[in-house]
Amino acid sequence: MNPLTNPTAQGVDAVLIYIFGVSLLLLLGITVATIYFVIKYRRSKYPEPTSEAHGSLWLEAVWTLLPTLIVLTMFWYGWTHYLGLRDVPAGAFEVKANGRMWSWQFQYENGRTSNKLYVPTGKPIKVKLTSSDVIHSFFMPGFRIKRDAVPGMESYVWFQAPETGSYDIFCAEYCGTGHADMITTAEVLSAEDFERWYEKSAAATGVARGRELLEEHGCLGCHSFDGSNSIAPTFGKLKGLEREISHEGLEQKIIVDAEYLRRAIRAPGADLVEDFPPIMPAYGDEISETDLDEIINYLLEGESKPLIDGNKLIEENGCLGCHSTDGSKLIGPSFKGLGGRSSEVKRDGQELKLKVGADYLRRAIRNPGHEIVADYPAIMPAYDHLSDEEIEAIVEELLKK
Ligand code: CUA
Repeated sequence: MNPLTNPTAQGVDAVLIYIFGVSLLLLLGITVATIYFVIKYRRSKYPEPTSEAHGSLWLEAVWTLLPTLIVLTMFWYGWTHYLGLRDVPAGAFEVKANGRMWSWQFQYENGRTSNKLYVPTGKPIKVKLTSSDVIHSFFMPGFRIKRDAVPGMESYVWFQAPETGSYDIFCAEYCGTGHADMITTAEVLSAEDFERWYEKSAAATGVARGRELLEEHGCLGCHSFDGSNSIAPTFGKLKGLEREISHEGLEQKIIVDAEYLRRAIRAPGADLVEDFPPIMPAYGDEISETDLDEIINYLLEGESKPLIDGNKLIEENGCLGCHSTDGSKLIGPSFKGLGGRSSEVKRDGQELKLKVGADYLRRAIRNPGHEIVADYPAIMPAYDHLSDEEIEAIVEELLKK
């Protein structure tokens, strides 16, 4: 098979273009003929019917057979290409994809797991679909493939990526609150890069194994590390936390420890945390005992603050070239004593005084031209390549200076 083709997309597109093209031709032909007859045989010219014909076997046979043939070619063409979507080429690389509220998890034959689908370019990939809770739908628009992931049933799709790159994967079946967040990507790597990724042991990534496991199992889709409680309780500062739970309908206070976390992962329905809906699925065999220990250990002992180093970012982005930290005036205002300082700025040509806080700093980094500090030139570039998390880490550090 030619590695530079995208067989599933090409097959589906060919059928679509054929059916659409035939329909378009018919639409145009019928519309033009209708308009022609309406004008030619208008009543002012022919007040009475002029034809004496009462039937034509030949004409009736043609307009019955021709459309039947056209529709049959559409069926035949669509059916053969549909079989192309179901017949996986021999030697395909197999990956399991499991859908659950609300993330995808991919599992490879060598035991590696990930939350993005990593595949090599130019090779047929068979994705085996399952679900651990409700019906999800695995949708990769770039390859024109979509198939439901149904609990208790295994189905599959296959595709082949012509070139390296990142391709969207969505869930296309409404599956609850987090449905719209069930987004990930297929990362198509060159054969060598893929081999390297595939063989790489977790230890070589430099990321704590526990953290990696939390990502792989999609925990961070619902739980944050930054203290914000969105769908589920945050993972931030868990150790020794006093928490109100309801156990078999009885309210109790517990201290978060390893034993509690183990229950909360294996049997989340047993102790429900106050104010959160009981939606977490139980994690059984898919997390081994050793992995569970890693996770618990990380939750209790790992960094429970954002992993991004704000000070390092401030240095790396060259902020200190224009801003001092000792109060001296350089090209830009000093960082010293920023938090709570009042600052005169010009916004849309109007002068105003404002207090420096997190909101102001976020704006000043993302869009520095919007509010210009009095007595300073408007030369700071917008730092919009920074992620939200990075900006938060920087702002947090700036407010401390
Ligand atoms: Cu899963 Cu929508």
